[in-house]
Amino acid sequence: MKILKVKDYEQLSEIAADLIAKQIKEKPTSVLGLATGSSPVGTYQKLAAMKLDFSNVLTFNLDEYCGLSNDNPQSYYFFMMENLFKHINIPKGNTHFPSENNCDKYDDQIARAGRVDLQLLGIGSNGHIGFNEPDQVFHNKTRVVELAQSTIEANARFFEKPGDVPKTAISMGIGTIMAAKKIILVADADKFDIIQKMMNPVVSPQLPASILHYHPDCTIIYVTTS
Ligand code: GLP
Repeated sequence: MKILKVKDYEQLSEIAADLIAKQIKEKPTSVLGLATGSSPVGTYQKLAAMKLDFSNVLTFNLDEYCGLSNDNPQSYYFFMMENLFKHINIPKGNTHFPSENNCDKYDDQIARAGRVDLQLLGIGSNGHIGFNEPDQVFHNKTRVVELAQSTIEANARFFEKPGDVPKTAISMGIGTIMAAKKIILVADADKFDIIQKMMNPVVSPQLPASILHYHPDCTIIYVTTS
């Protein structure tokens, strides 16, 4: 695992965007795994400003809430459109999102695309990646998941009423994520504590991101508070 400590969000976004741009330039038909959340927003802004050719890139998003339509501003579909897709030349048909209808087929679809070349990840305060919450075991496949109470509370800031916050989501599995050829995890300063815990090389499904210690090409970029 490669660790890059950076001084601020700007630098975090710049380094992550440069790594993704390098991937696309080296392989214009790259398959990207994409994340939502506040940590990757700056990365997407910088990437969009680079005016790269995304016309042959395929993307697979990590997760999506259950029960939110694409035009709901809190859906991850809407997030990706606003923060990246509408600013680049990617054909709509090249972008993919897991849903309750396709979750059984999502992993096969990714495998058929030749596996994810580069997977971008954020991390939840409880150590989740995608929406793989702390559990007794690591779950391999894309599936519907129950969100942890702490995740529901963390997500409440984006919704008008607490009752609007989805309690279930569809998430790529840990196996799906680990099958990516390269992984980059970005974490802003508010994730400093969980990043420190994750550095401890004890791999446990109670801290899902700890599995990344076993990935052969994983880079963690995080903002240090010291
Ligand atoms: C959500 C997403 C995760 C993301 C996390 C962190 O829970 N499902 O994939 O990693 O948010 O978000 P942020 O970057 O806003 O801290």
